[in-house]
Amino acid sequence: MTLWELISTLHVQPTKAHCIRHLMCILIHFGLFELRDLEEVDGQMGYVLTCVSQLLVKDKALSAAPFALFLLRPLAKGHCAWMRDGEDVHPTTYEMAHSVPAWDALRNLKANSLFNEAMASDSSLIARVVVDTCGGVFEGLSLVVEVGGRTGMMGKAITEAFLHLECTVFDQPHMVDGLVGTERLKFVGGDLFVEITLVDAVILKVGKVVMIDMVVGSETEDHGSTETQLFFDMLMMVTFNVKERDEK
Ligand SMILES: C[S@@+](CC[C@H](N)C(=O)[O-])C[C@H]1O[C@@H](n2cnc3c(N)ncnc32)[C@H](O)[C@@H]1O
Repeated sequence: MTLWELISTLHVQPTKAHCIRHLMCILIHFGLFELRDLEEVDGQMGYVLTCVSQLLVKDKALSAAPFALFLLRPLAKGHCAWMRDGEDVHPTTYEMAHSVPAWDALRNLKANSLFNEAMASDSSLIARVVVDTCGGVFEGLSLVVEVGGRTGMMGKAITEAFLHLECTVFDQPHMVDGLVGTERLKFVGGDLFVEITLVDAVILKVGKVVMIDMVVGSETEDHGSTETQLFFDMLMMVTFNVKERDEK
């Protein structure tokens, strides 16, 4: 089946059609589909079932579809409905399932502390790698702003490692509310899109932009790394209706 046949069979809204290609990338990676020339449609590229996904075809002897559908029920229901849903009714599948945008849900104290812990542990690990392997980028700098820095784990690590640095951690007001900094680590609340869009251009005089982010498509020989990239791409699509960056 070609991509367009798939989109049409699934009744996906045209504005959301591009999501299917992302979804198929991850299913191919898991060995559930193959992408190859289809002789029956003049050699166009299309998706075919593998021996694994043959097991998931409904109404076949030994079909594992009912079990898989049972396990996936809440997520699959949300995704299918969202794909067919009108453009503006539910901006994300997360919002469709929970009736609030993901960032708003994090205002809830319990969810917020769980998310904080998850982010902080991830940032502590990454901060260690950054300090050990890319510490040179902070040489010659004295003031750093960490945008979306939340509890400031990255800022804390770099101010501890580089004693000449001062760091301001910038995040949404409810995220940094009540956080206490130090002499060289400050917390400031605000909306990045409000603060930044009030200007016509951002000029960094003797400045640097240091980006620590996932790049989809990098290190493709590393199976685990590719899997992580594809999963994060899915996560971004489901929660925020955006995608992870690629090299372009
Ligand atoms: C993936 S988290 C980053 C976690 C952080 N690096 C840490 O170490 O815990 C992304 C952060 O961006 C913040 N964020 C999202 N939208 C924002 C906006 N419009 N303005 C400011 N911060 C924003 C979120 O509140 C969140 O803390």
